[in-house]
Amino acid sequence: MDPDDIRRAYDRSAGGYDARFAALQGPKYDAVLARVDVPPGARVADLGGGTGLLVGRLPPLARRPIVLDFSRPMLALAPAAADRVQADLRRLPLRERSIDRAFVITALLLPPRARVGALLELARVLAPGGRLALTVLADEAAGLEDDLRACGLVPGPRFACGQDVGVVCSTAAKDVPGRGGARAGSR
Ligand SMILES: C[S@@+](CC[C@H](N)C(=O)[O-])C[C@H]1O[C@@H](n2cnc3c(N)ncnc32)[C@H](O)[C@@H]1O
Repeated sequence: MDPDDIRRAYDRSAGGYDARFAALQGPKYDAVLARVDVPPGARVADLGGGTGLLVGRLPPLARRPIVLDFSRPMLALAPAAADRVQADLRRLPLRERSIDRAFVITALLLPPRARVGALLELARVLAPGGRLALTVLADEAAGLEDDLRACGLVPGPRFACGQDVGVVCSTAAKDVPGRGGARAGSR
């Protein structure tokens, strides 16, 4: 589906999202948070975070987490304790190497070429030593690790994650394409 159509669909359905999907998403957060430590000082971003359900599962943090999504009605429902950012995963308004823990839970809903563009952005903003926890619908997981490696991320083993496939990635030791300069207006 075209990303603009996806955004419009979430714009329309935001009001009923939590009632419909919180129970389905919960086991994914459990699976991911069992594999990713979140230190109190970590800079955390829930990207494609929708209504910010994951944020409620995070341990206490010294810094406000970011919930980023391209659907304004979804973001409007995210906890006020988070910094809510309306943006597209394919063009993150975040500084390079600025995020210690990035979560992308059932939000990489992009065709293959655009998926790689978003992964390059994720690799760009992930800090050295950072972790990206990513889940994708199981029928969209083909070639995921190849795409991650092509973007300079190092995927760990796959794990079952509700209806999704999960993977936790670390940063590659050397620099990668797409880690160019910070964007104007970046954090
Ligand atoms: C299935 S919901 C998951 C939301 C949240 N991660 C959760 O666990 O509840 C998918 C979310 O991804 C967002 N999304 C999809 N494609 C996006 C993109 N290219 N940029 C930003 N957000 C996107 C949608 O607006 C929607 O809020």
